[in-house]
Amino acid sequence: MTDHATGAPHLRPGAHLLVTGGAGFIGSAFVRDMLARRDGTRITVLDKLTYAGSESNLAAVATDPEQADRYRFVRGDIGDAELVGPLVAAADAVVNFAAESHVDRSILDPEAFLRTGVIGVHVLLEAVRREAGRAAAGERETAPRYLQVSTDEVYGTVPDGHSVETDGLAPRSPYAAAKAAGELLVRSYCITYGTDAVVTRGANTYGPFQHPEKLIPLFITNAIDDEPLPLYGDGMQRRDWLFVADHAGAIEHVLRHGVAGEVYNIPGELEVPNREVVGRLLDALGKPWSLVRTVEDRPGHDRRYAMDGSKLTALGWRNRISFDDGIAATVDWFRSNEAWWRSAKSGDWDAYYARQYGTRLATSTEA
Ligand code: NAD
Ligand code: TYD
Repeated sequence: MTDHATGAPHLRPGAHLLVTGGAGFIGSAFVRDMLARRDGTRITVLDKLTYAGSESNLAAVATDPEQADRYRFVRGDIGDAELVGPLVAAADAVVNFAAESHVDRSILDPEAFLRTGVIGVHVLLEAVRREAGRAAAGERETAPRYLQVSTDEVYGTVPDGHSVETDGLAPRSPYAAAKAAGELLVRSYCITYGTDAVVTRGANTYGPFQHPEKLIPLFITNAIDDEPLPLYGDGMQRRDWLFVADHAGAIEHVLRHGVAGEVYNIPGELEVPNREVVGRLLDALGKPWSLVRTVEDRPGHDRRYAMDGSKLTALGWRNRISFDDGIAATVDWFRSNEAWWRSAKSGDWDAYYARQYGTRLATSTEA
């Protein structure tokens, strides 16, 4: 595949990527998949290792000598300009997954979302801008390309039809607002400084290694333990579900072939109401619907997300994993990796769970 604008792919063979937030759910899938291809690509992961990130997500890379040779892990914050500068200087491209990523936590404590999603993105963009200046001065071969991983939540709730990339942004949670702000900064750098940057807006993603705070892994792991499954409101909110390997693959595709300054939606494979997702999970696990409890809704809960994917299709990307296959693989993975998710449900988990669900479950009703 070649880029539509220049006729050449944007990454040279053996490129060195800086992957920020690469120890999280989608970032680690991106790193594992790219390094497992053994095509000479080198990756430095910069990750703060918040409650959501873990180096164990990259164990497959670190324990494979050939991949480990092309991989480096740096613990740190994307908002730390002194740390970020030299890492961007050494990179051919920056792929930014780093974010606080859970809507419910953004409602409880918005500040960290803004620090990483706005100031952190600004720090990365400044480093990229400086390197572009060095490239223009002949001090490095090419300017680094920047990819901002964003989300369909920036569109806000979509009563009908499908969001296209030119639609206005109407975020409704602090998480979505921080993601929209990050994107707008990227847009401003493209226009003002000519920064070589692209943005992806991915749909609701699920799969192995997802933190159990999110709907699908929370409900799988609670159901394994015969604990209640807290369904918000009437459970008829609709999401479009994207398997993690497809999300990571589409991001790589946009990194290689996306046109500078453009935004690309990455839709999923099936739009369904939450109730139906939960029913399918329970079927796959052989657990009863009686575990499901109706709890007080999330404030400002977006009723529906749905995106049009024709721009990404025209760029040459197709998802590979159906919802049925993805759910089967995900349920299998959580069944076989109990130590991983029990560890993710430790530390501040009990305090978070009590704050988010304590009253909700105490006042819950039959679903
Ligand atoms: P995640 O919470 O699993 O991972 C985020 C990673 O970023 C963690 O490893 C965390 O330690 C790291 N991080 C957080 N703040 C940091 C900072 N200041 N500096 C460095 N590292 C930091 O999230 P995810 O689900 O893998 O999401 C990755 C990206 O994809 C996010 O930008 C998110 O907004 C976006 N996205 C997620 C979904 C989804 O459904 N999960 C959908 C669309 C877009
Ligand atoms: P989530 O996984 O948090 O993703 P997002 O908010 O980014 O869409 O939630 C997916 C859907 O599941 C959303 O409509 C909220 C709902 N949900 C519940 O009903 N109960 C829960 O405990 C959680 C975490 C989510």
